[in-house]
Amino acid sequence: MKNNLKITPISDALGAEIKGADLSNLTDKEFDIIHRAWLDHCVVLLRNQELTDKDLITFSQRFGELDWAPVQETGRRFVEGYPEIYVISNVVENGEPIGSLGAGEAVWHTDMSYLEEPPKASMVYALEVPPIGGSTFFCNMYTALELLPDTLKEKISGLRLKHDGTYNSGGYLREGVKAIDDPVTSEGVYHPIVCKHPETNQPVLYLGRRRNAYIESMTLDDSNILLDELWTYATHKDIAWGHVWKVGDVVLWDNRCTMHRRDSFDPDTRRVLHRTQVKGQTKPTA
Ligand code: SIN
Repeated sequence: MKNNLKITPISDALGAEIKGADLSNLTDKEFDIIHRAWLDHCVVLLRNQELTDKDLITFSQRFGELDWAPVQETGRRFVEGYPEIYVISNVVENGEPIGSLGAGEAVWHTDMSYLEEPPKASMVYALEVPPIGGSTFFCNMYTALELLPDTLKEKISGLRLKHDGTYNSGGYLREGVKAIDDPVTSEGVYHPIVCKHPETNQPVLYLGRRRNAYIESMTLDDSNILLDELWTYATHKDIAWGHVWKVGDVVLWDNRCTMHRRDSFDPDTRRVLHRTQVKGQTKPTA
């Protein structure tokens, strides 16, 4: 069947923009093309979308069953009636934040990698954006692994890393979680440092987030030295791309082969994004 979608790579690092799709009214063929582009380019951008929360959920569900949104630092979990939607916002209404992550920097991370089965995809829809700042950057973890010197690849072969969910990427303690800053004893789940992407079958560096990360069976000092070295490669500017948001943008990324971070922005301006996350339904494996 004919389609009018146009896919254009967005940077040398990763990402593609797809034009010609209305996510609230997508044919199966168009979905297949978007799905393929998401696997090929790791991050996909679609601009000028007009979506209700229900539309965002319906589109997201084409990728698979959705995870419920993580608990916000305020203890709230979701948009009334839509537990799948995670609100990312600095806006305060009636004295209460309507979302998570505030207006500060959100550090590099993979969404919810502290779960045994982390989500495979996240989709973010921009409802309000600040005039300056608040851009989101993505890095390519296939390339990060390729860039590692052979000696470093040998060092991490077969090792597992603890992924800790005590703090979110904005640095906020999650509601109901005890603050522990010792990576050796903090809670978390272990995943291999080098995983095989379950759909592309390509090896990928899987780091999650730096805070409270700990490499199994090492001394904390040795673990920190090795992790710092890996993070230098993983977050190098040559393997990253930054997205400047416009209202109506939808960005979806593959959590198994990317990390992302967000710039800070003026807290007196408003930023409201709605995110869904698609269940991975598989443990990251080597
Ligand atoms: C996130 O999903 O980590 C937030 C991204 C953003 O605020 O741009």
